[in-house]
Amino acid sequence: MTNRSIRVGTFFSGIGSPEKALQKLKEDEIIDDYEIVFFSEIDENAIKSYCAIHDVDKNLNLGDITKIKGIKLPYCDIWIGGFPCQDISSAGRMIGFSYESKTRSSLGWEIIRLLKEINEKPKCVIFENVANITNKKYENTLIAFKEELSKLGYKLYDSVLNASDYGIPQNRKRYFLVALKDNNKFVFPEKRNSNISLIDYIDNKVEEKYYLTDSEFSEQNGKFIFVNKNNKNIQYEIDPLLIKKGGVCGKDLHTKYMQSSRIFSIYGNMPTLTANNTADNCKIVVESEESR
Ligand SMILES: C[S@@+](CC[C@H](N)C(=O)[O-])C[C@H]1O[C@@H](n2cnc3c(N)ncnc32)[C@H](O)[C@@H]1O
Repeated sequence: MTNRSIRVGTFFSGIGSPEKALQKLKEDEIIDDYEIVFFSEIDENAIKSYCAIHDVDKNLNLGDITKIKGIKLPYCDIWIGGFPCQDISSAGRMIGFSYESKTRSSLGWEIIRLLKEINEKPKCVIFENVANITNKKYENTLIAFKEELSKLGYKLYDSVLNASDYGIPQNRKRYFLVALKDNNKFVFPEKRNSNISLIDYIDNKVEEKYYLTDSEFSEQNGKFIFVNKNNKNIQYEIDPLLIKKGGVCGKDLHTKYMQSSRIFSIYGNMPTLTANNTADNCKIVVESEESR
């Protein structure tokens, strides 16, 4: 797809990360250009962010996917839909995404409905979701989903990719299903090693309010104990020997769940940030510049 603008439409658009990827492909001169033909999102804040990030008018938003009529959709080369994951994710109740379930995750089937309704189907449709969609529990639903796409004339390629294998310092595994028309072939990109870690992404100058602790600490059995600046009951235990290794190097002694207690080193990768974990969210140890 070169020498012209790729027409793209996204559903469940959020803040438009696939659109950001297209922007990067354009900057890197891998594609000539792309045009956001429409997006579909219902969350007011996401819509505002989307329009600001991609510099598009909110009129491009088609809103609730269940209300869209396929027959009225303008032609696009690519559709992309990272459909809701709440009912698939291991962090949720795992009710699933079968068509009959009527869960939020079952909204992914709306894209298939639109493909059935539209006159000229896109050449490529990309679906994205959490890696847990490949869990045995959802096997039949995923097979049925793929069968519907095959019946519509698409050749399918799917894989679970981890962002950390593609130069992003975050362990974030995601399932991608690429559907291509006209027997076009697709190969997922090779994993590549990169030495990028959090320290390459984190700002050097961070506003004081984002720091949880002062530089003062006490030492117990070789571990450093820091106290939260605003709440003395919250303490953080850091193992100095683990900092340079990257990964988990300490714990928040206050949190209930092990996963949210983890404190990460700037010399490694981030975990996947959970959407509902605001109070206990990810903490990172930042050494003073002299000790780096
Ligand atoms: C997993 S997020 C997708 C994130 C997106 N890929 C991004 O790059 O930000 C799912 C999105 O679907 C949106 N959504 C949920 N129900 C919807 C509906 N009926 N119609 C359109 N969007 C919907 C949610 O508001 C949420 O932003």
